[in-house]
Amino acid sequence: MQTEKMEKIVSLAKRRGFVFAGSAPYGGLQGAWDYGPLGVLLKNNIKAAWWKKNVQERGDMVGLDSAILMNRKVWEASGHTKFMFDDLVECRSCHHRFRRDKVGGECPDCGGTFTEARPFNLMLETSVGPVADEAAKTFLRPETAQGIFVEFPLILETSRKKLPFGVAQIGKAFRNEITPGNFVFRTREFEQMEIEYFCRPEDSPKAFAEWRERRMQWWLGLGMRKENIRFYDYPKEALAHYSAGTTDIQFAFPFGSGGWDELEGIANRTDFDLSAHAKASGEEFTFFDDEAKVKIIPHVIEPSAGVDRAFLAFLINGYEEIAGGRSTTTEATKEVETVLRLHPALAPYKAAVLPLSKKPELTGPARALTASLRSRWMTDYDEVASIGRRYRRQDEIGTPFCITYDFESVDDRKVTVRDRDTMEQARVAVDELIPYLEEKLKY
Ligand code: GAP
Repeated sequence: MQTEKMEKIVSLAKRRGFVFAGSAPYGGLQGAWDYGPLGVLLKNNIKAAWWKKNVQERGDMVGLDSAILMNRKVWEASGHTKFMFDDLVECRSCHHRFRRDKVGGECPDCGGTFTEARPFNLMLETSVGPVADEAAKTFLRPETAQGIFVEFPLILETSRKKLPFGVAQIGKAFRNEITPGNFVFRTREFEQMEIEYFCRPEDSPKAFAEWRERRMQWWLGLGMRKENIRFYDYPKEALAHYSAGTTDIQFAFPFGSGGWDELEGIANRTDFDLSAHAKASGEEFTFFDDEAKVKIIPHVIEPSAGVDRAFLAFLINGYEEIAGGRSTTTEATKEVETVLRLHPALAPYKAAVLPLSKKPELTGPARALTASLRSRWMTDYDEVASIGRRYRRQDEIGTPFCITYDFESVDDRKVTVRDRDTMEQARVAVDELIPYLEEKLKY
């Protein structure tokens, strides 16, 4: 069930070009969405902020971009062909199918009774090459993690890293979810931001505790409100087949029964994967400890976040409606004003340049100013409609700074910079604008 807030977010996302239903002219495809002109910017900014804090600013992390298609033996060794199942139930009356753990005793669509639950493998099958026989069969990866595990020996050799160190990867993953839904929360094609952090077995509890905290700080540092986010420790019986302990970072999504649902999982995968690949392939998946002169199979801590869920959570977290509007000087009054309070690092456009009138003496320099800002940041330019309306258009998509070029600007070479959140206006010299914004936008 979508709440009113979700309906508003979905509507804003469509109206302003964040997210569209995939394959729309053909009636769509359930569980597949397209990110529009603003959506792709927000998504890219989420991924860039993750990479910056988890890779660039650390000395113990390297990156990887592994193939989505992998040898089927990978999925057999990793346990996914055996364990990646959800229990499926089917309504005896309308024949709609559901994940057993997501429904009660009767069908939510018609009230009918369910069949016995049966296991359903979530991996999307495909075949590689011109002959679609059994040998050509493999799966679209259901997690990016296995690419990191199978490349562990070569990453170790080429990066010359010592334990502890981690490998980060951002990429698409696919699951044939029984019931995709809640907009981009649960989809069949999605993107993950995953870290496999390799450490000595005895150091894994410390590494787990540190990543747990570090990952929470990352969300909070991007403006996630404390009341919207929390830890959830899994009971032993609910752990994935590879995990010795998992904590989720949950977000208060405005749907579902209790609202709270998974944004990111932080798992202690022990040596499960490296040992499994060593056994199945006969290759070495060890780290040589120079001091003790022994080979060890590292243990792994895995913080794994969904890009699409992050996207949705940041939209929900930032969305605010102000009845009557915030401004008393424009036609905004009496309307409901929407402000998307995205962290500046995430905002699709960092700035918008708005000439006060369409007269060439203003639009000429305003366009030149826009071009100079565009060499650094995504910058919008808008000369259509009243200034109040243009401010509100930018507020609604989360642009942190609007820059107005007015008649005085022609003489004093200054512009007005309006802050999205405080609505404060500062008069800034055009020559000072880039350092001014750089300071405000630094992350
Ligand atoms: N490698 C570990 C792993 O894949 P997971 O908890 O199954 O763990 C990690 O997935 C994250 O990927 C989740 O926290 C969620 O954000 C995202 N995710 C998983 N399934 C998803 C789906 N069907 N749609 C959108 N995001 C999904």
